[in-house]
Amino acid sequence: MTFPITRLRRLRTTATMRRLVRETALSVDDFVYPLFTCPGTNVKEPIGSMSGCFHFSPDVIADEAREVAGLGIPAVLLFGLPSNKDATGSEAWDDGGAVPLAIKAIKEACPELLVITDACLCAYTDHGHCGVVKDGKIVNDETCDLLAKMAVCHAKAGADIVAPSDMMDGRIGVMRDLLDENELEGVAIMSYSAKYASAYYGPFREAAHSAPSEGDRKSYQMDPANSDEAMLEMELDVEEGADILMVKPGLAYLDIVQRAKQSFNLPIAVYNVSGEYMMLQATADAGLIDLEQTTMETLTAFKRAGADIIITYSAKLAAKLLAK
Ligand code: PBG
Ligand code: ZN
Repeated sequence: MTFPITRLRRLRTTATMRRLVRETALSVDDFVYPLFTCPGTNVKEPIGSMSGCFHFSPDVIADEAREVAGLGIPAVLLFGLPSNKDATGSEAWDDGGAVPLAIKAIKEACPELLVITDACLCAYTDHGHCGVVKDGKIVNDETCDLLAKMAVCHAKAGADIVAPSDMMDGRIGVMRDLLDENELEGVAIMSYSAKYASAYYGPFREAAHSAPSEGDRKSYQMDPANSDEAMLEMELDVEEGADILMVKPGLAYLDIVQRAKQSFNLPIAVYNVSGEYMMLQATADAGLIDLEQTTMETLTAFKRAGADIIITYSAKLAAKLLAK
């Protein structure tokens, strides 16, 4: 099977030929579009660090949800800002908070659109950590209880899927138990299973006002150097009742996505995070790359690596390009 008998270029000759032999097909069905909600009314405020992204107050977020649903995107991932931050992030489970209100507004406007909510305390705590801090340490088990309360609050408001992004040990099991106790057994959990302590979250932390005021997240998020450990995290999440496993970030962790897909039989999600998104936006703004082509190439890479679900700020652009 060598040259001149084998000529791999034969199957690359025309667009139709390439279409026939293409191994990976990106689909709008794969996408989840992140949305940010904030307290107040009539707010649609551009997020300075993230091109094309906005903070929406719950009363106006339905317009955006309609656009997303109209493009055929199956799900949004909702992040919230509180009106007040405190030591435990207590607004995170306030039924009158921006997230529960936004869930209701979206569900009313687009009942079919799936609403996934991020469950984490960092945007709600005054210290910006994802859990309760005592003597300079993030307290694991107490944090799990609060996250579970947050998940129940979202689920009661109508969330279809809750997505804990904190990386405490055991949080999936605690969350599953409390959801079930509240007769919310039909609500799914998408676990940020292999979430790395990454500098690619920079633009997001500005958007969510969630950067830790002291220290970093390395005592709970994973070390970027580790791969076997990601498999352990996922194994535990499966045992604790996760329905979907996530790898985050995406681009620098495609090997983890591939291993996850090969090792588990649950849907694998990948989070194409804010820094990855802005690398393309900023480079394209500088006139150095083509935004549409690099976006589609990047999203295709996630799919090729094995992702079943792609969470991306590029979902609307990609949906429009796929519909062409
Ligand atoms: C909160 C959270 C973060 C992201 C999603 N949920 C930031 C962090 O952990 O510091 C990052 C999303 C992105 O960068 O797009 N725990
Ligand atoms: Zn957090």
